[in-house]
Amino acid sequence: MSDTRVSLPQPRRLGQTSRQDAWWLQPLVVFLGLGAFVVYSTWAAFVGVNYFYGGQGAHYLSPFYSPLIFGGPNEPAVFGPKPEWLPLWFSPAFLILWAPGGFRFTCYYYRGAYYKAFWNDPSNCAVGELRSCYRGEASLPLILQNIHRYFLYLALIFIVILAWDAWKATWFLDADGHEVWGIGLGTLVLTANVVFLGGYTFGCHSLRHLVGGRLDVLSNKKIRKKSWECVSCLNRKHMLWAWMSLFWVGFTDFYVRMCAMGVWSDWRIL
Ligand code: FES
Repeated sequence: MSDTRVSLPQPRRLGQTSRQDAWWLQPLVVFLGLGAFVVYSTWAAFVGVNYFYGGQGAHYLSPFYSPLIFGGPNEPAVFGPKPEWLPLWFSPAFLILWAPGGFRFTCYYYRGAYYKAFWNDPSNCAVGELRSCYRGEASLPLILQNIHRYFLYLALIFIVILAWDAWKATWFLDADGHEVWGIGLGTLVLTANVVFLGGYTFGCHSLRHLVGGRLDVLSNKKIRKKSWECVSCLNRKHMLWAWMSLFWVGFTDFYVRMCAMGVWSDWRIL
């Protein structure tokens, strides 16, 4: 890619604009929403406890910790207990969150949103910014955002893992220790999490490119054209899916946490 520098036609001071609308509102909402999520998820990752609820025979695992690489007794850990050589503060969420976090951080929609909200680059369209030239994402460090397509492959695997968690959340242990099928409020929370994350992931711009033909022309294969149309359909509301899934994945962790701490009791519907 060439490193073309383009001078902005009308240099303005930071925040200077002729716009009459509340152009600052959207970046402010993004700043607060995204900032709150980053603070909560970082805290939830560091605490390293109350991420699994097994009370009332349930099987609810927080998406921040799934798949659970190591964990305590009666937790669905893939490799058993935490190795002793790992420091006390090391939480199993650290092994997980970098992948979905990287996927969101490099998402085309979020890039446009947090460049405005966190970096004032620019604060909004047609609003003055600090820099007087535009370099795009053609040089370091922003050229690294192109890694998004590889995070997409990981995100697709996570959809399968979280769908499995939602399925496991439909099985409860009865008093004799037998598994019986059922639905609790937590089952619905975990299932909605997969639906929202699926709507976000399957509407990804990179996936649209991938299924549509990968080159600069659409594939003439029927199946690929149909897939491209489906991804495009979700892609039209990509921002909405991005926010719904962000909120809900945080709420899912919160729900499991509240149940595990005994603050909330899960409502068994079936
Ligand atoms: S562009 Fe948003 S998830 Fe890929």
